[in-house]
Amino acid sequence: MRKIEFNARKYMLASIVSIACFVTLAGASTAGELTGQEEMKRPILIQGPMPIEAEEFASRLKDVEVEESGSTFEFYIGTVDDYPVIVSKTGKGMENTAAATAVAILKYNPAAIINQGTSGGHDPDLNVFDIVLGERTVNIGSMKTGDRAEGEGIVATDWKPMDVMASEGSAGEDPNAEKARYYDADPDLLAAARKVKDSYTKGKIVEGTIGSADLWNNEVDRINWFHENYGTSVEEMESASSAMISKAYDVPFLAIRILSNNKTNNGAYNPETAAANQEYVYEVVREYISFLKSK
Ligand code: 5AD
Repeated sequence: MRKIEFNARKYMLASIVSIACFVTLAGASTAGELTGQEEMKRPILIQGPMPIEAEEFASRLKDVEVEESGSTFEFYIGTVDDYPVIVSKTGKGMENTAAATAVAILKYNPAAIINQGTSGGHDPDLNVFDIVLGERTVNIGSMKTGDRAEGEGIVATDWKPMDVMASEGSAGEDPNAEKARYYDADPDLLAAARKVKDSYTKGKIVEGTIGSADLWNNEVDRINWFHENYGTSVEEMESASSAMISKAYDVPFLAIRILSNNKTNNGAYNPETAAANQEYVYEVVREYISFLKSK
């Protein structure tokens, strides 16, 4: 495994070379209008926050090189079935994930992004080792509190969702901001995930809403509140931020999350779920690659 230090000067040089190549090739095809051949070369990006949520998949890549960016982000660049696949260890949380997604899109121009890892159940029918395909993802940490004077207390159930993308004005004043923004899964990625459902035998696979925030809820009433008001099946700390940035750059996106814990039915935390999810996601990626190759 070869390690490459990502440094700004090398990147600038590479950018100048790519711009020169692009200008030369401009007659043949323009940006945004990729030919079939070029499309074939765009990698699939698989994101995992923690080492246990990325390294199982990374160990399955062929011909791996590791690139680093900043002090946090690691990219394992390799292939699956002779197709380019990059595993990105993003670090935990919304900010790390948003930044890692933007860096990856600009550096590698991925054809699709899958954000995967562990999660906590909001649905009592889901057990540890069950997997949720994120039909949609939503930021459950972006909120506006009720209007209360000093001494009037803190009432978290009054808080309203706040869509930071609603307008360019103040999100605190814009009435359009007072609803949650949901990011839909890409239909082709979802179709690939559905097709290989039977390969997974450690639990069931369902489709649902994945809620993300820099928060770990252990209050069951609060968990139930999210389940009822946002329709969440699970919570975690990354998918919605990656979905937001993927959408900004028009990159197909899917979140796939396994339950490592579920407070609503006393499902105790099990870290082995992280590897089980990656085994399933590997099958999804193989299926999606055969779909891309058949296009
Ligand atoms: N709440 C929030 N994050 C969770 N994770 C697993 N379970 C939960 C939960 N109940 C994931 C997050 C983060 C790490 C702490 O584990 O996505 O990466």
